[in-house]
Amino acid sequence: MKKEIDKYINSIIENMKVSDRLKSAMLYSINAGGKRVRPEIALLVYKIRNREIDDKILRYASAIELIHTASLIHDDLPGIDNDNIRRHKATLHKAFDEATAILSGDLLFVKGLEILSENDKLKTMASLAVENLINGESIDTQFENCDISKGEWESMVKGKTGALIKLAFEVGSCLGGYNEEEINMLRQTGIDLGLVFQISDDLLDIIGNEKLVGKRLKKDRQYGKQTILKFHSLQEINNIIECYFKEIVDNLRNLDGNTLEIVNYIILLKDRKL
Ligand code: IPE
Ligand code: IPE
Ligand code: MG
Ligand code: MG
Ligand code: MG
Repeated sequence: MKKEIDKYINSIIENMKVSDRLKSAMLYSINAGGKRVRPEIALLVYKIRNREIDDKILRYASAIELIHTASLIHDDLPGIDNDNIRRHKATLHKAFDEATAILSGDLLFVKGLEILSENDKLKTMASLAVENLINGESIDTQFENCDISKGEWESMVKGKTGALIKLAFEVGSCLGGYNEEEINMLRQTGIDLGLVFQISDDLLDIIGNEKLVGKRLKKDRQYGKQTILKFHSLQEINNIIECYFKEIVDNLRNLDGNTLEIVNYIILLKDRKL
């Protein structure tokens, strides 16, 4: 489904009424090779009840990727994580300039929210997700070199990373024919997946292969970032990852419908090398 998502996202940006420079900047980051985890999840949740992928769900799933890319462009800026490499390429502020990166991020945030607001049910969830994401990013910078508790760390991660993965589950389930109880279960699954996704990201920063990951590694400690490594050993972290994924997969398997595709996708995420 990556191809359909890529095509859809590109067409959204191509149709924006902004300068060629801003358009090429947004397209540069959008087409730099992101995994498309969030839109894939939204589509796979939607498909569990055998629904055909149509333009509407593709549009909402793509909007989540616009917001995600915006958050990465801003995350890499000198005032936040000060990173030069993302998705195997120079970060946007390095390839273009800082002003273009800030403004391209602004545009992608706004466009993503505008699209998700076309649906009354998704409108509030999407703005809450962006609020939580930005709040989490802000706390992440405030926590640098601080002594924080595991609870504080967890709530920061639930914002900066959990919010959009939760939104992906919400988009798929609100449009996919689920009842309230199932939507709540899927929402919780999104929060859990967000947390374990960030745990893997923190782990990759330590043990990952820079050539595969496509970003500069071993920088979290250098910048005094708060990560799972502060609270657990590598062995414990691997066990934590196993436990979270087992629970996520069990919950998904318990849903009525065809869960094979999403379960296989989630299992691949468990051992991700990028
Ligand atoms: C990176 O997200 C930032 C985190 C939330 C850890 P992804 O690992 O999904 O990044 P891309 O989209 O594939 O580049
Ligand atoms: C997640 O945290 C970033 C966002 C949610 C925007 P990181 O700062 O650890 O992500 P990477 O490692 O730069 O991709
Ligand atoms: Mg960061
Ligand atoms: Mg970062
Ligand atoms: Mg990281």
